[in-house]
Amino acid sequence: MLKFQNLTKIYNNQSGKIIALSNVNLEIAKGELVSIVGKSGAGKSTLVKILTREEMPTKGGVLFNDVNICELKGKKLQEMRRRIGVVHQDYKLLCDKTVEENLCYVMQVVGVCDETIIKDVKKVLEIVGIENRVCHFPHELSGGEKQRLAIARALIHRPEIIIADEPTGNLDVYNSYEVISLFKKINEMGTTIILLTHDKEIVDSLKRRVITIDQGKVIGDDAKGRFIL
Ligand SMILES: Nc1ncnc2c1ncn2[C@@H]1O[C@H](COP(=O)(O)OP(=O)(O)OP(=O)(O)O)[C@@H](O)[C@H]1O
Ligand SMILES: [Mg+2]
Repeated sequence: MLKFQNLTKIYNNQSGKIIALSNVNLEIAKGELVSIVGKSGAGKSTLVKILTREEMPTKGGVLFNDVNICELKGKKLQEMRRRIGVVHQDYKLLCDKTVEENLCYVMQVVGVCDETIIKDVKKVLEIVGIENRVCHFPHELSGGEKQRLAIARALIHRPEIIIADEPTGNLDVYNSYEVISLFKKINEMGTTIILLTHDKEIVDSLKRRVITIDQGKVIGDDAKGRFIL
């Protein structure tokens, strides 16, 4: 479903070159729930940015269902963005919009009809368990609830794959496990899930595939892996 091929990303700035990803080759199959782990600065968010096309790779590419996403433009790029749901490290919620409006907005901008919006927003809020917070603004939500809203927004276009960048980074232990069981539930419903994290306990508890990256290189890939760094 997703293939990273010889993926290299070098950032160039005033202080010189930073190799964020170095010749990454990975395949992720439909239906997997996989963790990509690595220390701070290992290159996890860079992988996300390449998937969302915020950044282009310096070398290599990413095939999503055999299409190189780095070559997409215009309508095809927008369509791809709806098929890959992203939960960002810092949520990226719209702070002047309520829970409901945050979700409606992303559907309105792609021209979904009102009837479908109402039905789908209700459904995703139920899935993530914040249906009793529809009128709250982001600043009126707890950390766990904000994370759930970010997941709901990633889910709203029924993506084939969800990539979540450090989804438990700002949460306490209880909320972390709640959010992870939500991802398990979404995975059982048929969505491929990629979790990018440095949360050792969470990854060990999942007992699923673990890919380890260190200084931009894949250094481990275990089917029922554990966090080895
Ligand atoms: N826009 C940029 N310009 C220059 N260097 C960058 C840029 N973005 C990231 N980097 C560098 O690339 C490397 C990888 O960064 P990235 O954000 O992918 O790490 P990460 O694994 O997500 O870390 P964290 O766990 O702290 O979120 C780091 O050394 C970082 O300083
Ligand atoms: Mg990061």
